[in-house]
Amino acid sequence: MLDIYKFDESILGADTPDPLRYAFPQKKSAHAGGMASPIPPDQKVEILSRLYDQQGQKSAKRCLYIHIPFCRVRCTFCNFFQNAASRKLVDDYFEALMIEIAQKAAQPWTQTGLFHAVYIGGGTPTDLSAEQVERLGKAIRRSFPLSTDCEITLEGRINRFSDEMFERSLEGGFNRYSFGIQSFNTKVRRSAKRLDDREDVMARVASLSATQQAPIIVDLLYGLPYQTEEVFEQDLNDFMATGAHGLDLYQLVVGGSAPMINMVEKGRIPAPATTAEKAAMYKIGSDFMAKHHLTQLSVNHWTRDNRERSQYNSLAKTYAEVLPIGCGAGGNIGGFGMMNHRTLESYMNAIKSGDSTVVMLTKQHFLEPLFAALKSGFDHGVVSKIALPDFNGQSSFEFLRPLFEVWQQRGLAQVEDDYLVLTLAGRFWTVSLAQAAIQVLQQTFQQTTAVESAVSL
Ligand SMILES: C[S@@+](CC[C@H](N)C(=O)[O-])C[C@H]1O[C@@H](n2cnc3c(N)ncnc32)[C@H](O)[C@@H]1O
Ligand code: SF4
Repeated sequence: MLDIYKFDESILGADTPDPLRYAFPQKKSAHAGGMASPIPPDQKVEILSRLYDQQGQKSAKRCLYIHIPFCRVRCTFCNFFQNAASRKLVDDYFEALMIEIAQKAAQPWTQTGLFHAVYIGGGTPTDLSAEQVERLGKAIRRSFPLSTDCEITLEGRINRFSDEMFERSLEGGFNRYSFGIQSFNTKVRRSAKRLDDREDVMARVASLSATQQAPIIVDLLYGLPYQTEEVFEQDLNDFMATGAHGLDLYQLVVGGSAPMINMVEKGRIPAPATTAEKAAMYKIGSDFMAKHHLTQLSVNHWTRDNRERSQYNSLAKTYAEVLPIGCGAGGNIGGFGMMNHRTLESYMNAIKSGDSTVVMLTKQHFLEPLFAALKSGFDHGVVSKIALPDFNGQSSFEFLRPLFEVWQQRGLAQVEDDYLVLTLAGRFWTVSLAQAAIQVLQQTFQQTTAVESAVSL
């Protein structure tokens, strides 16, 4: 039995009349996750070759992630920036990437499974040349077994995304485009060092969407400096006006070395929105989508039609294996997490010397399949009993029910027989809730195994 009252508000959420704004102090990380154990470096190569030598399962959905670690300009809010793009650096990197693609494609594990979603992310993949984008698409289709309806996404921005690049990327096989817009508002964009003004961005997104060649997805942030509620509402209206097919709404979380922190400290720009202000903006966004009858695919993703499926996001953020390729790419295979070299120099050296591109290997937690199922449910706003593997020989949903009931009392969810349905507040705090459920299971598991080993001594 779960003794829920030994947990504090970081798990249960605050008892407040306004859970949307105040259930938790702030969003701590982008994604929820379980604890993993690092593999000692001397075992890395042997484990990796065992993983790549094994046979895959055609029926298990898997993804491919390829990272392009360059941007022409660093945006002030971004924690993902790695390297400033220069033609020579990008060209050399691209050739290294082609080598890694060939290496990974040659593995038995790769050829015996089926990839259902491919994502070229960054950084800014659209800072490759048009020719490179086409070559990359063709190399992927030639080298990996892809499902017939495989989603192949090119991420990037509309700056310098020419007609030639669009046509050549379609020729390469890309069938979904995800553009970071962040805000359409020119003042917000300039203060964040985004490259084009509102009218240019809107016109380009509209013309790409109007071709109906592939779903065009727009990322918007909420909480940027100068992005008031009125500006955000205009951003949402602008998205509708462009005719783009899908929308991601991300809460701004500034951390690490993002330049914005320093600019705010020096008084050069106003502070970004507080958590409570961002919660109010999430409600505005969510209400707006409902008013315009967009379909909700996850807590922060909406689609206007049934062409957009957001396969990569729903698979990779949850239970699917992900093969990572490129500098700074991360993924997981066979219960192990892997992270490729993060600096360009060490990645290029690994490719030149024929060493493994993986710099860090971890063993995922024993309960990872359960954690993944939970993350999937929280990401969709509904956790269903039947989708969760058992925990300690009993239904995980029943084990967690006391926690779910506290969340219900605190306005974060409704418990309906076999489903936990998140409220608007719960959807805003979904990562905190998923993390809390994972933490409760992890702690209980640790205590149970400690008791069992004490008894067997
Ligand atoms: C890694 S970026 C790459 C996209 C592309 N380079 C661009 O400039 O839009 C992917 C998405 O992450 C989101 N993102 C970046 N910085 C963020 C932050 N500080 N907080 C929340 N989301 C962020 C943005 O919405 C962005 O579109
Ligand atoms: S938002 Fe995109 S372009 Fe801007 S720094 Fe981050 S990854 Fe680069």
